[in-house]
Amino acid sequence: MNEGETFIRPLFPSDLEQLKALHEACFPIQYEKHYFQNAVHGRAGMRSWAAIHPCRTSGDAEEARSQNQVVGFVIARVNSAWDLTPEEHVGLGLAPTDGTHLLYILTFGVHEKWRRRGLGDQLVQALVGYSRLNGLRCIYLHTLDQNEAAQRFYRHAGFVAKLEIPRYYSLA
Ligand SMILES: CC(C)(COP(=O)(O)OP(=O)(O)OC[C@H]1O[C@@H](n2cnc3c(N)ncnc32)[C@H](O)[C@@H]1OP(=O)(O)O)[C@@H](O)C(=O)NCCC(=O)NCCS
Repeated sequence: MNEGETFIRPLFPSDLEQLKALHEACFPIQYEKHYFQNAVHGRAGMRSWAAIHPCRTSGDAEEARSQNQVVGFVIARVNSAWDLTPEEHVGLGLAPTDGTHLLYILTFGVHEKWRRRGLGDQLVQALVGYSRLNGLRCIYLHTLDQNEAAQRFYRHAGFVAKLEIPRYYSLA
């Protein structure tokens, strides 16, 4: 098997099954199938990117074919400041009537074997590039208090913790 260099690109509809499997490995919570379909089709304001590891399966030279392995993903949604809760307005320093748009990170994951190689950072760069190009005011997210790895990762990427919201996630 020949291995190429990992790269970032938008998620494609053909990535659906790999995305679901990787998402489930990163987040052991059931997500609606519409969530993934909207992500890969760019519906409901969703924008998503994948970290792709190209592998060439060898054998007969003529049969050799490229297989793209999804080793990381970020799924985000373009929100209007109107959609924020009052406490989020305060946390993000935006007026409730501010018509600005923001990029909200819904889920973000890198395959366990591929972590600490900078893929998370590259996915953040895709978000930053998209936000700049589209005049989005900021990128924001929620994360669990106990998820120290994610907090360190986001801090390293330049995010700043603004607000503590008790019981934001109701995990059974
Ligand atoms: C959080 C996550 C996406 C990071 O992806 P990654 O590809 O490993 O991140 P990077 O390699 O780009 O890390 C960049 C920097 O962030 C920090 N960082 C990342 N993971 C870290 C960890 N587990 N512990 C401490 N710092 C960490 C480091 O400063 C790292 O730089 P370094 O490796 O040179 O020290 C990945 O750990 C993950 O998928 N976790 C499970 C799902 C999750 O919790 N997602 C976030 C909540 S939505």
